[in-house]
Amino acid sequence: MTNTVIVGLQWGDEGKGKIVDYICPNYDAVVRYQGGSNAGHTVNVGGIKYVFHLIPSGLLRMKKLFIGPGVVVDPIVLKEEVEKAKMMTQKLDLTVDLRATVVTPLHRWLDGYLEELRGSSAVGTTRRGIGPAYAERALRIAPTVSDVLTKGKEMFDISSKLFKWKGEVDEWLKTAKEVLSAFAGNVGLKLQEIMDKGGSLLFEGAQGSLLDIIYGTYPYVTAVHTLASYACIGAGIPLGSIDEVIGVMKAYQTRVGKGPFPTEVKDEIGNVIRERGGEYGATTGRPRRIGWLDLVSIRYTAKLNNARKIALTKVDVLGGLKGVKIAIAYRIDGREVEDFPADIELLSRVEPVYEEIEPLPKLDKGEWARICKSGWSSLPHEVKRFVEFIEDKVKAEISIISVGEERGLTIERS
Ligand code: IMP
Ligand code: MG
Repeated sequence: MTNTVIVGLQWGDEGKGKIVDYICPNYDAVVRYQGGSNAGHTVNVGGIKYVFHLIPSGLLRMKKLFIGPGVVVDPIVLKEEVEKAKMMTQKLDLTVDLRATVVTPLHRWLDGYLEELRGSSAVGTTRRGIGPAYAERALRIAPTVSDVLTKGKEMFDISSKLFKWKGEVDEWLKTAKEVLSAFAGNVGLKLQEIMDKGGSLLFEGAQGSLLDIIYGTYPYVTAVHTLASYACIGAGIPLGSIDEVIGVMKAYQTRVGKGPFPTEVKDEIGNVIRERGGEYGATTGRPRRIGWLDLVSIRYTAKLNNARKIALTKVDVLGGLKGVKIAIAYRIDGREVEDFPADIELLSRVEPVYEEIEPLPKLDKGEWARICKSGWSSLPHEVKRFVEFIEDKVKAEISIISVGEERGLTIERS
């Protein structure tokens, strides 16, 4: 029995969905523990791309699926995904926790309105109502799944007065009751049962550590914790239930939305990486900002998560590019620092200290597939050196490398 958390070490979109899909045959269940439909997990199987926002990526392997109490659940998105899932598989074994917060039409409206009020300092949210749902939870006026099942539209009384909102909710409430009643249950209890029988759980983090509400680049963050340590709270299992954390990182950085990005590249090479890597938001379609790998921030997030193992994704994207750089420190006011600054103002004016790496080989899919089949030792030496460089600076082991979207384009350290 091993319980593992998959967590993003950057600003999200590290390829967590693919890694979850790859390793989940070893687990009995996949659990979402935070975030909501702001997430976009893309998995490619047999040339078909599947994007999910709420339902855990284990769906394609027909695992038991859980949406824990720490998640904010949009019933409309859930309904769409359930319909899509049922076309793909006969058996959808999903439980949504009764204590989870429900995202309402008011939350979606408020997300957009707040962004307008912020004007030039907008966060660049996904406008999925995530922040307002968590905020209303803290105000103790957000409906839970249990509320939606048992109450009427009076649950909107306080928040519509507070935000002077006059939206229609009858239709929404009908749909929400319908879809939530089909899946509502106690996630913590069910996970405990699986653990009692010696089963293994896989926790699927959404977003990335640098978007954590406290440890990320606040205020340019999401509205909840994204770190692995939140898995216990967000899933309803006791402290100490987690055996292992696998951090997922891309071979370069990306970010959607606003906020400081020390290693951002705005020139042509950034465009090349964006096109090659298909770096457009899975949820919003926005082009992602691109930057060089930033080991100052990775060291920080790997440590915060106790990620001793790392899955390194999209190594193929950098293949053949000359002048690929990695930030190993920051220069601030003439001083060199290796720690990630807490002060956002400071972070926005650091200058990265780079090392240029030996170009990685440009290989086509077939060549990568052959390497994946023959195993770790057949990795090109430039890739091995790239891996060793990261391991040395981050003090963690890279145990999985991903070199393409398909399941088969993955190499595990043997
Ligand atoms: P929110 O989570 O929609 O409130 O957005 C807050 C910030 O987090 C914005 O910069 C979003 O672009 C970013 N964000 C939210 N979810 C994801 C994700 O799944 N991947 C990458 N960025 C995300
Ligand atoms: Mg994503």
